[in-house]
Amino acid sequence: MPIINRIAEFHDDMKTWRRHLHANPELGYELHETAAFVIERLREFGVDEIHDGIAETGLVAIINGRGDGPTIGLRADMDALPITEIPDRPHKSRNQGVMHACGHDGHTAMLLGAARYLAETRNFKGRVALIFQPAEEGGAGGEAMVKAGIMDDFAIKQVFGIHNFPGMPEGLIGTRPGPLLAAADEFQIDITGKGGHAAMPNTSVDPVMIAVQIAQALQTIVSRNVDPIDSAVISVTRIDAGTTHNIIPGTAFMQGTVRTVRKETQADIVARMERIVTNIATALGGEAKLNYHYGYPPTVNHPAETEFALKVAREVAGEQLVTDDIPPTMGAEDFAYMLEARPGAFLCLGTGEGAGLHHPEFDFNDEVSPIGASFFVRLVETAQPVG
Ligand code: NI
Repeated sequence: MPIINRIAEFHDDMKTWRRHLHANPELGYELHETAAFVIERLREFGVDEIHDGIAETGLVAIINGRGDGPTIGLRADMDALPITEIPDRPHKSRNQGVMHACGHDGHTAMLLGAARYLAETRNFKGRVALIFQPAEEGGAGGEAMVKAGIMDDFAIKQVFGIHNFPGMPEGLIGTRPGPLLAAADEFQIDITGKGGHAAMPNTSVDPVMIAVQIAQALQTIVSRNVDPIDSAVISVTRIDAGTTHNIIPGTAFMQGTVRTVRKETQADIVARMERIVTNIATALGGEAKLNYHYGYPPTVNHPAETEFALKVAREVAGEQLVTDDIPPTMGAEDFAYMLEARPGAFLCLGTGEGAGLHHPEFDFNDEVSPIGASFFVRLVETAQPVG
């Protein structure tokens, strides 16, 4: 049961929608034209309900199947990135400095393709909730949709999402049960010493030395404290201090990121960072304060739903084009919030060679759209079959 023929028939339409979205990218929660375009298409398809204005420009559309049954949620993100597109192409971004460099235009087009088919055929029981969310890129739009109550309001039982993946063979569908993507946190450290003449360090408390020792000690957490089989990253990406060669500054500032795939590891890292920052500063006669900001949680796939999604993927893409153990990556995704609210799975769809995600030359590979749309459709028809 490969790609659905009827969906292959509107491959060109999906391509047209995708390129329209690519040419007209919008950022964060300000997806007014994007949402209007999606709503227009959904109306044409004859979906049963459209609830817009959720988390500002997000929306949920409902398609009723034949007979009672649960509601399955399918999600696409719609926002672009603040990147200037480099190559000239017919569908090049018309919004200077804004670009669909993560393929969310493709995610939206694939879900629209699935919506059209599902509204036309209704070969399933219960309902489908099509979730189109804003602000995946750093704005936690997925969390905002969950907080707005979509899971309860639409009685969504399980949720599924896809992300395109350049560098993975075209058409390959891959995922894994458990952690797939990391939690992405950010930290700042404010160090206070005592400024003075660089020729008389004995009269000062040097915040530069405190910063350097903290940076080194932080690197022992991953190498000495985190289980080697587990995964974590601590990167100090910025140290600011001082003005010139003969003054010991009074303060220093540090910044960086922490990535983890397990909540327990994340909690342990934060506790160790607190101790290292505070105690090294104290030991050297100064003071330091850690400001830790939690970002997206890890994206953790639920085992049963992942197994089910993989089974459907094998039917759509073929056995040899599905893998159930792609390695977790340290990128992050706000679909994580939906997977905290409901069981489900997130899958990667390979798009072959080409520029990577968030690169100014990136362009979603339209060739995979029928695969993504067929996968969404079969997921629904298999999970909630008619009679
Ligand atoms: Ni993305």
